[in-house]
Amino acid sequence: MDKKIKIAGISGSLRKESFHTKLLKAAAGIPLEDAEIEIVDISQLPLFNQDWEMNLPASVVEFKKKIAESDAILFVTPEYNYSVPGVLKNAIDCGSRPYGESAWSGKPAAIMSGSVGIFGGSRAQYHLRQMMVFLDMHPLNKPEVMVPMIQDKFDASGNLTDEATKAKVKEMIEALVVWTGKLR
Ligand SMILES: Cc1cc2nc3c(=O)[nH]c(=O)nc-3n(C[C@H](O)[C@H](O)[C@H](O)COP(=O)(O)O)c2cc1C
Repeated sequence: MDKKIKIAGISGSLRKESFHTKLLKAAAGIPLEDAEIEIVDISQLPLFNQDWEMNLPASVVEFKKKIAESDAILFVTPEYNYSVPGVLKNAIDCGSRPYGESAWSGKPAAIMSGSVGIFGGSRAQYHLRQMMVFLDMHPLNKPEVMVPMIQDKFDASGNLTDEATKAKVKEMIEALVVWTGKLR
């Protein structure tokens, strides 16, 4: 491969002690030969307003640039009320406008989700996949990473310690790298 695959990692939670941000950090810490994961912060994005879509605020321009320059996207998100959190939807909307200038088009993507219950955020994943149809993204199908009881998977310092989850995360990142290579 000629150059390293750049993966933009986005957490769907702004919470300081977010389990999903910790999961994303664990993924970003996996040593990879052909790829690197950069965490892209969405906390500074304004609420999308179509009044300014032809003259985007600087934070949105910067966010779109980071997405456009990435070869693949990794979404790591909780489920809020059976869907994705509003902050993640807002980031997706910000990156998608104006019409015809979406930063998401053609990007391969993988999704990890979790929950403090038993379902692992699966319903949020399917809403995200639905958005990816209109965004013309290319979601990775397998492996699926849906982490139940996510609060039990980290130590007191926030490190991912659950071996099964660690293995799944690694498997997904490696699969995303292969998938991105195929689509290049
Ligand atoms: C507004 C809100 C809605 C939620 N809705 C769901 C839900 O639909 N399904 C679920 O499994 N957990 C739900 N939860 C619980 C989250 O899984 C839990 O708060 C989780 O820790 C959030 O991820 P974070 O730690 O990365 O912030 C909800 C939490 C909030 C704050």
